[in-house]
Amino acid sequence: MPETTPTGLTRLAFGGDYNPEQWPENVWHEDVRLMREAGVTMVSVGIFSWALLEPSPGEYDFDWLDRLLDLLHENGIRADLGTPTVVPPVWFYRAHPEALPVAADGTRYEFGSRGAICHSNADYRAAAATITTQLAERYADHPALAMWHVHNEYGVPVSACYCDSCAAHFRRWLAARYETVDAVNEAWGTAFWGQRYTDFDQINPPRVAPTVGNPGQTLDYKRFADATMRENFCAERDILHRLAPGIPVTTNFMTALSQCDSVDYWAWGREVDIVTNDHYLITDGRRTHVNLAMAADLTRSVAGGAPWLLLEHSTSGINWQPRNPAKTPGQMARNSLAHVARGSEGAMFFQWRQSRRGAEKFHSAMVPHAGTESRVWREVVELGASLDSLSTIRGTRTQADVAVLWDWHSWWAQNLAWRPSEDHDARERADSFYEALYDRHLTVDFAHPEADLSAYPLVVVPALYLMTEAAGSNVRAYVENGGTLVVSYFSGIVDEHDAVHEGAYPGALRDVLGLTVEEFSPLLPGQSVRVTGPDGSELTGDVWTEFVVPRDAETVWTYADGPAAGLPAVTRHHLVAGSAWYVSTRLDAQGLDALLGWASDDAGIAPRADLPRDVEVVRRVGESGTYLFAINHSSSDVKVPLDGHGTELLTGERAAGRVALPAGAVRVVRLDG
Ligand code: GAL
Repeated sequence: MPETTPTGLTRLAFGGDYNPEQWPENVWHEDVRLMREAGVTMVSVGIFSWALLEPSPGEYDFDWLDRLLDLLHENGIRADLGTPTVVPPVWFYRAHPEALPVAADGTRYEFGSRGAICHSNADYRAAAATITTQLAERYADHPALAMWHVHNEYGVPVSACYCDSCAAHFRRWLAARYETVDAVNEAWGTAFWGQRYTDFDQINPPRVAPTVGNPGQTLDYKRFADATMRENFCAERDILHRLAPGIPVTTNFMTALSQCDSVDYWAWGREVDIVTNDHYLITDGRRTHVNLAMAADLTRSVAGGAPWLLLEHSTSGINWQPRNPAKTPGQMARNSLAHVARGSEGAMFFQWRQSRRGAEKFHSAMVPHAGTESRVWREVVELGASLDSLSTIRGTRTQADVAVLWDWHSWWAQNLAWRPSEDHDARERADSFYEALYDRHLTVDFAHPEADLSAYPLVVVPALYLMTEAAGSNVRAYVENGGTLVVSYFSGIVDEHDAVHEGAYPGALRDVLGLTVEEFSPLLPGQSVRVTGPDGSELTGDVWTEFVVPRDAETVWTYADGPAAGLPAVTRHHLVAGSAWYVSTRLDAQGLDALLGWASDDAGIAPRADLPRDVEVVRRVGESGTYLFAINHSSSDVKVPLDGHGTELLTGERAAGRVALPAGAVRVVRLDG
């Protein structure tokens, strides 16, 4: 069995992508000296090195990598060794131009960037297997080897290829999934617009068409593209497992929902030995630490709650957004330790030494262009020391309070064209509900809609348009057994083929919610509605309203105006031992907080009113003890209550009853007993 933590690592992982091939060898020696100074424990190497390792077909040059791994080993630094299959050398593409992927409009991408791969291409698959075998045979027993890093961020920048090989592969995939072409016709509803197929050979990828394509076909193509990438990952992983038994294999995910939308990480989480993630702060005016927490919680959830590893983030600014602010003093440590609080077994960066050339030369690094006489470097060294003092948390698990249901397939379906309103965005609802839970200081696990939910007092369904019947029964059983459910509008509408569940909306959730929805009536830009509550309170909704018909549910909040005036806006359904809440408009933050407050009362979750906004408190628990992480993203000093007393690990100070948390600071208290 492969290990589930990097082999030989006895402290938290700290380091970054290390690309020494961009530098003369004398710099490598300076690098390892600085790595030791900063307390680096592991670096990721060789991710983009295929062209150097195999300069011409079948001719290998491993000498430089031998020297590099030896140097790392001599300095006590572990290696996360890449299989370089995300960028095959140019000679490969010149020999196999059809390995370059094709966009939906027929454009074939050129060599000269990265990630230009048709994952159905047999020559690519064979070449990837060969270079992986060469690396595994050579380095399986190298004492520096801690982990294999397969490929890089599957799904970006090319999420699907639409070439003829993919068309043939898609047909084989469909035949395996549906067996008959009639079953495909049924699933995709091809009776509509005369799209009927009589043979698998007639089916193509959903290429550019005059108007909107078949939604079932588009959804299945996303599944196919994801499955094809996963097939290629598994092929490399199996070679590595066979030739380097025991060494864990990973590939870096991008679970932050804005950064990669084409990969079903629930499925990928089951295939890797260690879940690893990359996270970058997106400058979109929202609180970046909330998106970070969400990505970390989602990553931990796809790891099944087990520890995972942050494989890349940035020391300061990135360089691929329109505007890339530098991190503020202390922000890198807060970011890093927030990932650790939420289950990461360390904090790694892109990249170790800032490049002088190439596309990412303005992306920050652990050793910046400014060198070691810089704030970034001083903070890197400080972070290394902080992580060192947290070594005992390895293996402990983050404790969650509530669950949020999330499913990539539903998100893909939700984003298909021609929906009731383009202003409704499933991800926006997921973000906003998450943020409302974050502001209530609740730690979130994400759960697949068919997963066991019994451990959670409260389950939130932000916008889960696609739900199978099994998912519907699952949440119903959860409520019947005493759970509290909160469901937002446009959930439970279609099945796995994007076909509307039979009967009135929301087919998969009618019973558990005790209501039906007669019609959707989305609002126009700038329109909003007022919603009045039982205590006379007034909330605001926008984007969406609908005509809800309560069956067994009670009306809690009512539309005061707008298209659904007088109809229920928020309902509650008592079902056996639990209750199910439904909200049929897009509530703002204040409305979501009120709704979650009511539902939390049902769920028996006490408010954590003693913590100010933007103070994050998360616990990791395990054999070595209970660790309370307190992270202050605000500009005020606060005191965070503790249950008991303990030792603050970053300062070494004792804390009893409360721990002082200055503005911008992080404290990690290991509780006594
Ligand atoms: C990641 C990628 C790295 C680097 C980094 C910073 O997505 O894996 O290779 O490009 O972003 O932009």
